Amino acid sequence: MSSPKTDVFKNTPTDHKIHDLIKNRWSPRKFADTPVSDTDLQSLFEAGRWAASSSNLQPWNIVWGKKGSTAYDRIMKVLVEFNQGWAKNAPVLMLGVFDKKTPDGKDNFHALHDLGQFAANMSIQAQSMGIALHQMAGVKHEEALKEFKFPDTYHVATAIAAGYYGGEMSDLPEDLKGEEKKERQRKKQDEFIFNGDYVERAEVDQS
Ligand SMILES: Cc1cc2nc3c(=O)[nH]c(=O)nc-3n(C[C@H](O)[C@H](O)[C@H](O)COP(=O)(O)O)c2cc1C
Repeated sequence: MSSPKTDVFKNTPTDHKIHDLIKNRWSPRKFADTPVSDTDLQSLFEAGRWAASSSNLQPWNIVWGKKGSTAYDRIMKVLVEFNQGWAKNAPVLMLGVFDKKTPDGKDNFHALHDLGQFAANMSIQAQSMGIALHQMAGVKHEEALKEFKFPDTYHVATAIAAGYYGGEMSDLPEDLKGEEKKERQRKKQDEFIFNGDYVERAEVDQS
């Protein structure tokens, strides 16, 4: 078994002070073979459950499976090929699904936002437990909806690979080994934070 303590940290050049749970979270494509217990999963789902949502509608749904189970294989089948190439390293796979409609049949414009909050809560809870989540947009959305028998008003937005940080570089396809070591990057705050009117990046550069 590989140690859950290896490769936990990645260089994260923050400009301001933030909580270590946020700073140290990142999205690996290899994982320790340490099992993720049912108790661990219940804590992740519980953290998601207490996320805020518009009108408290909680439009999120999670499908999950542990490696070796039929549910896991069915989730793997609906990932795009690129993600299948590394997600097989994860001991747990999930799908993030939301209901596009409110209970009274109107469009719920905030449902995707709410599912994102669920995922963010889960990822910080996971970080506190030494577990990494790697979210994926690369899902065969329609196929996934049908595979897991969701009604047509639902949308499979994401998949999530979960497992304790660790694993071996040799677990990764050749073209992804470099990515795993790359420094994390973000836009600067002045590109997207406005204390007033929106300003295009080009204008910010000239000031
Ligand atoms: C909604 C969403 C979709 C993503 N889709 C994919 C994906 O399909 N495949 C993949 O390898 N990574 C995917 N990622 C991971 C991002 O590439 C990653 O979060 C980003 O590069 C920032 O890296 P960090 O999470 O390590 O800070 C996704 C992340 C999010 C939040």
